[in-house]
Amino acid sequence: MTTVIHTINELIKVIKDWKKAGHSVGLVPTMGALHTGHASLIQKSAETCDKTVVSVFVNPTQFGINEDFSKYPRTLEKDVELANTYNADIVFAPSAEEMYGNNYNKDFMTLVCPPYDLVNKLCGKTRTGHFDGVATVVTKLFNIAQPNYAFFGQKDAQQLYIIEKMVKDLNFDIKIIPCPIVREESGLAISSRNQYLSEEEKLQAVSLSKALFTIKKYFDKGIKDSKALFDTGISMLDSHAELEYLDFIDYDNFEKTDIIKGKTLVAICAKVGTTRLIDNIVLE
Ligand code: PAF
Repeated sequence: MTTVIHTINELIKVIKDWKKAGHSVGLVPTMGALHTGHASLIQKSAETCDKTVVSVFVNPTQFGINEDFSKYPRTLEKDVELANTYNADIVFAPSAEEMYGNNYNKDFMTLVCPPYDLVNKLCGKTRTGHFDGVATVVTKLFNIAQPNYAFFGQKDAQQLYIIEKMVKDLNFDIKIIPCPIVREESGLAISSRNQYLSEEEKLQAVSLSKALFTIKKYFDKGIKDSKALFDTGISMLDSHAELEYLDFIDYDNFEKTDIIKGKTLVAICAKVGTTRLIDNIVLE
């Protein structure tokens, strides 16, 4: 049975006992509202590690002032059920006070700031401070849970790239395991934010993955010019989807690329109604 822990000290104690007994520990960091995408991460952790901790924490420091922090779905009871189904040992669900102290202030706390060159593009361009919040909370979770492995979804490709770089730069002795995007039958990438979509908007949202699949189809036919691929992708996007970016990023240096040479991330972000959605595909 999955045990729910709300305090840092209690979790540290359990982890210490596990480590003493020689168990390996997997961490699945989440913001809750768990879905089948998260289930695949938990399952992978339970297969890979002796013990699995799922953190459920809607992290205030990664939301901008006009973002959806207050309306972000909070469904702890259901989350614990799902974590239990996929054999998590612990759900760690701290409060904001437990993680950051009373009346914390982002201007008066130590932040982990990922390199500007990784942050100044894709989502980081409009979500100022977002990746500082992510890197900071993930560092705290790593320090608290001391995992041997940590599992992250590839849907948040920029987040994953930044965390992999952070682990290397800051010498965390943790193996990051990237897990594939889970999609609905329609192709729509599964996300906690899909809950915000009406049935009609859901149909429009499918066009993000259609754009990516079309790009892959033309790339596989031999088209390597990102402008031409951009145009074919855009032609698939529903007219109600408001594009924020559709960028081609070289995996080696995380810079935009005009002609696709090696492994390339194609990342899309669009607003459908009031919901901001992201998706991506890798060309190689
Ligand atoms: O991907 C998420 O859900 C969050 O950004 C993470 C990694 C749990 C940090 O709050």
